[in-house]
Amino acid sequence: MDKILVKSGKRLGGEVSVSGMKNAALPILFATILTGDKCIIDNIPPVSDITLALDILRTVGAEVTYRSRTRVVINTAGVRPCISSYEMDNQIRASAYLLGAELGRFARTRVGWPGGCNFGTRPLDLHMKGFEAMGATMSTEGGYIVGNAEEGLHNATVYLDVPSVGATVNLILAAATTPGETILHNAAREPHIVDLVNFLNLCGADIRGAGENDIHIHGVEKLHGTTYTICPDMIEAGTYMTAVAATGGSITLRNVVPAHLDSTTAKLREMGVEIRTVELDGETAMTVSSDGILKSTHIKTFYYPGFPTDMQPQFAPLMCIAEGVSTISEGVWANRFRYVDELCKMGARISVDGSTATFVGGAKLKGAPVVAFDLRAGAAMIIAGMIASGQTEITNVQVIDRGFYNIVGKLKKLGADIRRISE
Ligand code: UD1
Repeated sequence: MDKILVKSGKRLGGEVSVSGMKNAALPILFATILTGDKCIIDNIPPVSDITLALDILRTVGAEVTYRSRTRVVINTAGVRPCISSYEMDNQIRASAYLLGAELGRFARTRVGWPGGCNFGTRPLDLHMKGFEAMGATMSTEGGYIVGNAEEGLHNATVYLDVPSVGATVNLILAAATTPGETILHNAAREPHIVDLVNFLNLCGADIRGAGENDIHIHGVEKLHGTTYTICPDMIEAGTYMTAVAATGGSITLRNVVPAHLDSTTAKLREMGVEIRTVELDGETAMTVSSDGILKSTHIKTFYYPGFPTDMQPQFAPLMCIAEGVSTISEGVWANRFRYVDELCKMGARISVDGSTATFVGGAKLKGAPVVAFDLRAGAAMIIAGMIASGQTEITNVQVIDRGFYNIVGKLKKLGADIRRISE
């Protein structure tokens, strides 16, 4: 098992290039099934969740060929439904998108119960209700989710109780080639939903309203292949922003969409971090500068454009050292504070009451052996290690590989004292 070893004392400086967004690439990879054709997907992040998603696509009959680390050709002509394996499906959350893709193309599906990071219960009831509203009968059998629409899917108007990313993706996939107009009310508005819809529309779909509360999907008869470039990862970008906020220094982020980072930028500015959008070589970039002296702040996570739940663990180390008392209120997941005990081991003063964590700032963090409980919490451990005295040893680091491409190499290039060892 690999470990990451981090030492403090280095201010970050230089440039970092942000990879493509994992949570946009995953739905798009499964959406290629709907085309039954050849698609070329560019700027995919070389992370383990993507490798697993491509393995699942191969299992169901897709031909997958890498042209480079970040460019893949997928031909889904030979895909067959209901043949994926529980063991593979259960390793990632995004296998849930096979449900919508198989139902959309074949009107039947069978997918192993999706896994993914553990933030407490991760229900799929909204996905199921939506498919049922479109005429599918859904059930679970031996750990698989099974769906059938004997007379084919039909259009529907679906109201989502909460703007779930997963349910929105799945219902878009199911509806893209279903006759008539399907309307999703209270849909998720995340940039990855917009990216998925841009991809599908290039494939010939007729979908409007992505990024808004209501999405209108006019089912088309057939989709065709296309070439598409995945948008930059706002969570990876935000993670490097919090890293330099913590250590002090100044970095430039390349391959970013500043508007996707508005809520992160607002909170970092409140904490005293300087952030600018600049043009470099004809491209938009961002510079982030900090003297490492931070003010307290209060964060409430919420659905986009609210503050992303996937950024809250990375703010925790900043709140540990900031002047004054800070809070994080988690508004999306039931249990996303498992990392708190690890930070307390390092000398943080944090208490959790229900969905709110309170940080008494001014802590002097000290290196310790800590566990990366999930993908984003793992990044938080790295950031904490960069500002703690002595050495921090992080285990269970394979969860970080799910969604951060080469985080050790990228931070090292920015000047961090960090290395990965295999045991
Ligand atoms: C996606 C992201 C994950 C992120 C989350 C919220 C991927 C692969 N994962 O997860 O990183 O943390 O969005 O931004 O893209 N809910 C229900 N019923 C459902 C589905 C969801 O009640 O059927 C609730 C969940 O309990 C949660 C909220 O909706 O409280 C958000 O979940 P959702 O947006 O679906 O998250 P995921 O798509 O699983």
